[in-house]
Amino acid sequence: MSKKLYIETYGCQMNVGDSEVIFSILGKEGYERTERIEEADVILANTCSVRDNAEQRIWGRIEVFHKQKATRPEVVVGIVGCMAERLKDKLIETGKVDIVAGPDSYRSLPQLLADVTPDSPQINVLLSHEETYADIVPLRTDRNGVSAVISIMRGCNNVCSYCVVPYTRGAERSRDPKTIIDEAADVFSKGYKEVTLLGQNVDSYLWKGPDGEQVTFPQLLESVARISPDLRVRFATNHPKDISDELISVMARYENICEHIHLPVQSGSDRLLEKMRRRYTSAWYLERVARIREAMPGCGITTDVIAGFCSETEEDHQDTLRLFREVGFDYAYMFYYSERPGTLAARHYPDDVPLEVKTRRLNEIIALQNELSLESNRRDIGKKFKVLVEGPSKKNSEELCGRTGSNKMCVFPDTVHRSGDYVTVEVLSCTSATLICRLAE
Ligand code: SAH
Ligand code: SF4
Ligand code: F3S
Repeated sequence: MSKKLYIETYGCQMNVGDSEVIFSILGKEGYERTERIEEADVILANTCSVRDNAEQRIWGRIEVFHKQKATRPEVVVGIVGCMAERLKDKLIETGKVDIVAGPDSYRSLPQLLADVTPDSPQINVLLSHEETYADIVPLRTDRNGVSAVISIMRGCNNVCSYCVVPYTRGAERSRDPKTIIDEAADVFSKGYKEVTLLGQNVDSYLWKGPDGEQVTFPQLLESVARISPDLRVRFATNHPKDISDELISVMARYENICEHIHLPVQSGSDRLLEKMRRRYTSAWYLERVARIREAMPGCGITTDVIAGFCSETEEDHQDTLRLFREVGFDYAYMFYYSERPGTLAARHYPDDVPLEVKTRRLNEIIALQNELSLESNRRDIGKKFKVLVEGPSKKNSEELCGRTGSNKMCVFPDTVHRSGDYVTVEVLSCTSATLICRLAE
């Protein structure tokens, strides 16, 4: 009988891709994927360290996993990913974790599993300058068979002062473009209609071949877009300091490159941007947004923001609100600052904005963004969009849902089409989260 592997995935899309790599690596060893924890021989959590609450959740999950051992002492519990990399043997010291594996050590999982015993937990948290898992064909875990994620690079060479990612993921490295294009072509041949190219900062993707040839992100994107006009291409995340005119022009040129850019701003205050070491100003950010909109008036622009970073004043906060209004983001991921041990900010700047002030400012940003999302959606009423059907809508089985190129969720009555079809819809009304549509003539 084959062994069963259960993985819970937390954090960003990179972790989703990594869990698919782990399923593939252990699949070769005879492990079969299960979604039921109670039948798993191996339980893994692929973890995130970006904010303290992400880690707190995992501590809770470790207790839950441990309970499985009460009836089945042979179950192996592993913590992998960013929290494994950050906390290393601290996780083993709980006595509840058998395996700890960092993001660059997944090829060693078969060995770690072979060596693990209740008395000898196994750990590998070596970071690598080369590992990109380029040759591993991930086992897809998406639910709809329509959208696949493809990691194009790993690590990060920026040192944003608040951020733990460079410490948990190591130095930036780009994956061989040929393997990326082959993987995209392969998923398309298997019926997928959308790929999302992933990296912490895709604009700095740079492949240097053995003969000195180089491939940049805009060039890679163009090659993936050329696989087929029926394959939609998305990517994330861009860094405002690096997003280039060349990228914008490639996006504008190919109909199947979705017009959506996720461009995390973090703050609207130049003083704080400097302190965060983001290496751009609010004026630079606004100029990039203007350039994007000039080339692609319908381009979706979304962002990340941190409220209450070290020393943030009311005035800094107002600068953020003003920038939000000025850009009119379509959507935003909003957080309050969470100090991460070992980062530049933790070492140099006191975490001095009281929690209630952080929360109040965050709530003000959320309230404003809700209005902006609603306004953005209202501007689409009466317009027509090509939508890729993802499946039945959550609320009504007579309705389908799918996204516009700009990444807005549409729902529409339709009992004819199915997942993976392209349809044209007309927007009738909206909420701040959804466009309510009908099939267009
Ligand atoms: N590489 C991406 C971000 C990855 S982390 C980028 O540079 O944009 C995702 C988001 O988490 C960040 O954009 C930031 O808004 C948020 N974040 C990162 N560290 C944080 C911290 N210490 N506290 C609160 N939010 C944080
Ligand atoms: Fe973190 Fe900055 Fe790198 Fe993004 S670019 S992962 S925020 S260090
Ligand atoms: Fe979290 Fe690691 Fe991603 S810290 S955001 S899972 S790179």
